[in-house]
Amino acid sequence: MADESTRARADELRREIERHNALYYIEDSPEITDGEYDVLFRELRALEEAHPDLVTADSPTRRVGSPGKGAGAAAGEHLGPVRHAFPMLSLENAMDRSEIEAWFARTLAALGAVEPPAWTVEPKVDGLGVEVVYRGGALEVASTRGDGEVGQDITRTLVTIPSVPARLGGRHVPSVVDLRGEVFMRREDLARLNEALEEAGEPTFKNPRNAAVGSLRQKDPRVSAGRPLAVAFYALGRCEGWRPRGQAGLLAWMADSGLPTHPADLWRSCGAPEEVLDFHDQVLARRDGLPFEVDGLVVKLDLFRHQEELGERSRSPRWAVAWKFPPLEAATRVLAIDAQVGRTGTITPRAVLEPVAIGGVTVRHATLHNFDQVRRLDVRVGDRVVVTRAGDVIPQVVRVLQEERRGEPAPLAPPARCPACDSPARREEGEVYLRCPSAACPAQFRRRLRHFAQKSAMDIEGLGEKLVDQLVERGLVRDLADLYALDARSVAELERMGERSAANLLAAVDASRGRPLARCLHALGVRHVGEHVAEVLAGRFGGIDGIMDASREELEAVHEVGPAVAASVRAFFEAQENRALVGRLRGRGVRFVPVERRTGGALEGLTLVFTGTLPHLSRGRARALATAAGARVAGSVSRETDYVVAGEEAGAKRERALALGVSVIDEAEFLRMTGASL
Ligand code: IVH
Repeated sequence: MADESTRARADELRREIERHNALYYIEDSPEITDGEYDVLFRELRALEEAHPDLVTADSPTRRVGSPGKGAGAAAGEHLGPVRHAFPMLSLENAMDRSEIEAWFARTLAALGAVEPPAWTVEPKVDGLGVEVVYRGGALEVASTRGDGEVGQDITRTLVTIPSVPARLGGRHVPSVVDLRGEVFMRREDLARLNEALEEAGEPTFKNPRNAAVGSLRQKDPRVSAGRPLAVAFYALGRCEGWRPRGQAGLLAWMADSGLPTHPADLWRSCGAPEEVLDFHDQVLARRDGLPFEVDGLVVKLDLFRHQEELGERSRSPRWAVAWKFPPLEAATRVLAIDAQVGRTGTITPRAVLEPVAIGGVTVRHATLHNFDQVRRLDVRVGDRVVVTRAGDVIPQVVRVLQEERRGEPAPLAPPARCPACDSPARREEGEVYLRCPSAACPAQFRRRLRHFAQKSAMDIEGLGEKLVDQLVERGLVRDLADLYALDARSVAELERMGERSAANLLAAVDASRGRPLARCLHALGVRHVGEHVAEVLAGRFGGIDGIMDASREELEAVHEVGPAVAASVRAFFEAQENRALVGRLRGRGVRFVPVERRTGGALEGLTLVFTGTLPHLSRGRARALATAAGARVAGSVSRETDYVVAGEEAGAKRERALALGVSVIDEAEFLRMTGASL
């Protein structure tokens, strides 16, 4: 048995190593060299070897991912090779009903006389296949599928996904378990991310798979942490110690252990092939409305015993099959290529198509993203092209059917001038997008007005696209502040309006005068200032004047505000026309309602992180309460965090807090501390 002082030293070493791990992996700002880290690590390992009673289940020495062991994810080794204990197989496809029926016939014949089998049917998620190893219940290493034998180490970035637990909870914890799943992005999250990337002038992601790959292969885990990634686990590799009996048991165990898996209404255990066919039709009918992209169903023989009996071919199991949905793509002709001007002046090419039905929707336009993409695809007017559409993502041209090209249509050159206002178009060094630099461009203004009115900004109900177009075309709104001087009579005369709708619109405009500072700031459309950054700035400066007058240094000193954001905010408020706009808005009653700061607020000087779903408070309201009480709200947990407020499905952030010794509290406790009530 180790004596007290040895035990204390081991504890201290573990805490220190965890702290350095967090600095290294999460904050990317190590305080010590790798050599110094090694010394601590070796001392702990030596103590544990000499006194096995000192070893704890979650000791850093037991995790391959620790830099000290060198086998995992130290900076230089990020994306280094990881060999899967069992190969990660792929799936054979069934393209239609006859192929799936043939597969059922084959599996039933191969199973012979065993008891009647069951099948588990689940979504085929379109993302990136990954494996995560848990040893002694603790996350050890995460890797991509790679070639099925060896993948890339993505531990550092995977652990930034909040739903991935650092430790397994639940009743049964296998001693070692390889969990396989898919990293993906929900449609809504992908659309929002693309909007932000576009605003920042960066290339957007074409589908959830690309978004997942691009976000996990980041060197800097802080970039991945800012990406709204999700995971669904659905399969086992190695599993030692306790083990479920079959696929349905596996999915249920995952849910019980706190592992993200398929939503309960998207998988089913079926006792007969007819039930599988039925479920397929149900999911296919819901396809467009699902929160993430599903490109088919995976049908698995349920019991592991039955799976083992059937075994594998070289690369795919005989006991499972991917039943693909019909592709959401079609070929059609490009009638013209026009260009659209975004809120910040980006000029994006768009194909005008001969209308074509794809998965029940008529598609008339498809994005070409940018002019480099036009050149890469070599798309020309008159070409037949393949167009895909996926959920809410704008349809896109993926390929030109070169062999069907007639004659020699001219290649498309990027426009020299803005298609809306004829200003000379510009493309800055290193930028992906061509831009219209004119502040007076009406196309940009229409987009700005839509942005200003949207729900997450000034939330002016009823001010949709059609109305914006009319207000701008008739010259009723030439400047954002004109909205606050509209008169009911001219609004009532607009198409599809009338007195009642006009009165409603004016009431909605009036209500927006009292929006809080953060929303007003977001509404102004400063580049790089989305909802979150706006809240951070509002929380720090309290009022619009403070933000308008903040120097670049002051802005950069704000946690979560980088040089690009600081420069953009500064440039925006240095421009006389923008200061004048704020003045006009104020003159018409927009209050930029300052953050209410009770001096000596209950949470003054504290840093909070929210994670998971709180029972009553929305994230926005919780943040507002915290900021009003003087706290700073951060996005990731570090040793500077004072409290983590954890709700339902709190994952890695909660675990990290526990590992770093940060207090974890629930909503009730948070409310008590702020002195607020629901
Ligand atoms: S099971 C041996 N289940 O599809 C069976 N795979 O085409 C291994 N995938 O590499 C996979 N959703 O990345 C399984 N519900 C699901 C899936 C799924 C997506 C991916 C996975 C796999 C690929 C095979």
